[in-house]
Amino acid sequence: MASIVSIQGVRKTYAGGLTALNGIDLEIAEGEVLALLGPNGAGKTTLISMICGISTITEGRITVGGHDVVRDFRAARALIGLVPQELHTEGFETVMNTVRFTRGLFGKRRDDALIERILRDLALWEKRNAKIIALSGGMKRRVMIAKALAHEPRVLFLDEPTAGVDVELRQSMWEVMRGLKARGVTIILTTHYIEEAEAMADRVGVIDKGLILLVEDTAALMKRMGRKSLTVELAAPLAALPAGLDRDGIALGVDGASLVYSYDTAAEKTGITDLLADIRAAGLHMVDLNTRQSSLEDIFVGLVKEGAR
Ligand SMILES: Nc1ncnc2c1ncn2[C@@H]1O[C@H](COP(=O)(O)OP(=O)(O)OP(=O)(O)O)[C@@H](O)[C@H]1O
Ligand SMILES: [Mg+2]
Repeated sequence: MASIVSIQGVRKTYAGGLTALNGIDLEIAEGEVLALLGPNGAGKTTLISMICGISTITEGRITVGGHDVVRDFRAARALIGLVPQELHTEGFETVMNTVRFTRGLFGKRRDDALIERILRDLALWEKRNAKIIALSGGMKRRVMIAKALAHEPRVLFLDEPTAGVDVELRQSMWEVMRGLKARGVTIILTTHYIEEAEAMADRVGVIDKGLILLVEDTAALMKRMGRKSLTVELAAPLAALPAGLDRDGIALGVDGASLVYSYDTAAEKTGITDLLADIRAAGLHMVDLNTRQSSLEDIFVGLVKEGAR
């Protein structure tokens, strides 16, 4: 599929001399959901700010819908909806007027039916006549999303959209994102909630220290990097691993009453059959077996640690 956002050789050095991005190349396909993961200070917000034309580009080139974000700023910006990480709203205006006004800023004709749908989707319709200053933090964040959607952008940037949002509301915001994706909107989100990336993203990009460590299909990444572990509960605890079982990938559980075997999900042979035979040969009795798949979180922590070496 064609790219809607194209980032080529982008570097960013802030006025104080700090290099926040150190050569980023990234193509984002129309209609995909891309999650950017990375520790605090990795450069996620900096990258989004440059794509949205808020922060200057030190080196390199970015286009959105084929429009250069510097030379052709207005055309590029018209395609973009941005929900910034830092909240800043006009406190004394009502929810409805704020969202309506934002649409007007982009030169789009008034469309109250559209604004109503957006506010209902975000569970803000009841609050449409409330002043923003009188809303809770989670509601303000949803007003920012409504504002970002008011001009019907083709690309939506959500910089930590669900930070400080309760679990129930987070689920309903995921529903909103799914609805937008179904309508063909491209979504780029940053998040520290890895389950959010797992639930929402077609692809995951991991950024650390101004570099992209990897960008990969979410499901494929989990399959490739994922390990499974098999825990064998024993009838009686052991002081040490018996000779026939003392090998790589097998460890004794903390209480000595279980064996933990970890194996690669992508490998041709798991080695489980051999393991079970060896357990029997060692004269051990099993009472239970269970498996656990590593999560995106395990993979992410591993990658960032590797990058730090
Ligand atoms: N306006 C600025 N002037 C100077 N340095 C900045 C500025 N904004 C960000 N930085 C620095 O650039 C680096 C990247 O910051 P950025 O905000 O892009 O990180 P982030 O990945 O969004 O982190 P977080 O997860 O905490 O939001 C950090 O070292 C930060 O201190
Ligand atoms: Mg940030």
